[in-house]
Amino acid sequence: MTIFAALNRFFLKFTLQHSDTRTKARAAELITDHGKIETPIFMPVGTVASVKGVHQRELKEEINPDIILGNTYHLYLRPKTEILKQAGGLHKFMNWDRNILTDSGGYQVYSLSDNRKIKEEGVKFKSHIDGSYHVFTPENVMEIQRVIGADIIMAFDECTPYPCDYNYAKRSMHMTHRWLERCIRHLEKTPFAYDYEQTFFPIVQGSTYKDLRRQSAEYIAGVGAEGNAIGGLSVGEPAEEMYAMTEVVCEILPEDKPRYLMGVGTPINILENIALGIDMFDCVMPTRNARNGMLFTAHGTINIKNKKWEDDFSPLDEMGTTFVDHEYSKAYLRHLFAANEYLGKQIATIHNLGFYLWLVREARRHILAGDFYEWKSVMVKQMDKRL
Ligand code: GUN
Repeated sequence: MTIFAALNRFFLKFTLQHSDTRTKARAAELITDHGKIETPIFMPVGTVASVKGVHQRELKEEINPDIILGNTYHLYLRPKTEILKQAGGLHKFMNWDRNILTDSGGYQVYSLSDNRKIKEEGVKFKSHIDGSYHVFTPENVMEIQRVIGADIIMAFDECTPYPCDYNYAKRSMHMTHRWLERCIRHLEKTPFAYDYEQTFFPIVQGSTYKDLRRQSAEYIAGVGAEGNAIGGLSVGEPAEEMYAMTEVVCEILPEDKPRYLMGVGTPINILENIALGIDMFDCVMPTRNARNGMLFTAHGTINIKNKKWEDDFSPLDEMGTTFVDHEYSKAYLRHLFAANEYLGKQIATIHNLGFYLWLVREARRHILAGDFYEWKSVMVKQMDKRL
């Protein structure tokens, strides 16, 4: 079954602008009804209709991402789909007029719910908020994502853990493929909820087995969606295994469609995966680690809680692109963390997101300039340090 037959329309405009010669890195542009997305892109995670610790105004003006991510699992449980419908969709509810992608819950159901049963029909799970029971099926997850109203919506899949037994990974991958067909059939019957269009990305699974990854990538490519995602990685496997899987899958997924690697990763993981042909990323790392006092910089990572920063009055990050990098010192931010002030977490979050967006924009600039490989080699060495 191809998505073209099922949905009979294409809406995403994807233009490949440059392919690197020494690596598989690409620079491209996607256009949706909520504007342009220049790739490679990192999507800040706004799980519950908020990028934790950052005002939408700061997000736009300082960090300036073309797209952010929301989570079906969280939004369905709170504020609940009905409230989002009444608000006119997530964009209006959270006052964000640029692009949004929603994950399907295929990962959160497994990582957050302490009690879940996976069957062919769908997944029964217990809410991490109030202990109530719910069921996600490929069909209702498509309906929920229509109502949330993100520009890019994701297939309902099973994200396998690491390590994962071969037979389980194989059975799970086939179920994810069957669920994909159900998602597509149901989407065809579920009209857009608002006055703009949505596009749908299927997800490659297959754990850390090359033959399964190849099989899944062939299947997903055959669907003919406007973009494709890779899931089931960054779940505890060594980085080299992740890269090996990305490489195998990118060789099969079509070149003229965006490729999204879900839930990845460290700044080094991002550059290595860009080199393998990935265009889109998301991860909680810059926001979550910021709240724990970990700052990412072009010269390595900083634990701002460390005593060594107590009397270091130099700017947070002399190369940084956001106002916090120049207006606050390391000593001041360390003090805010020591005093457990909210402002500390906010400053660190703006810094880290600013850094991640700078990193992918620089990657794009170097791909377009033709020296991505040389730049990446230097950056990977530099960013591996602890300052
Ligand atoms: N986020 C990170 N990995 C995954 C995955 O495998 N599936 C989904 N749906 N989301 C993810």
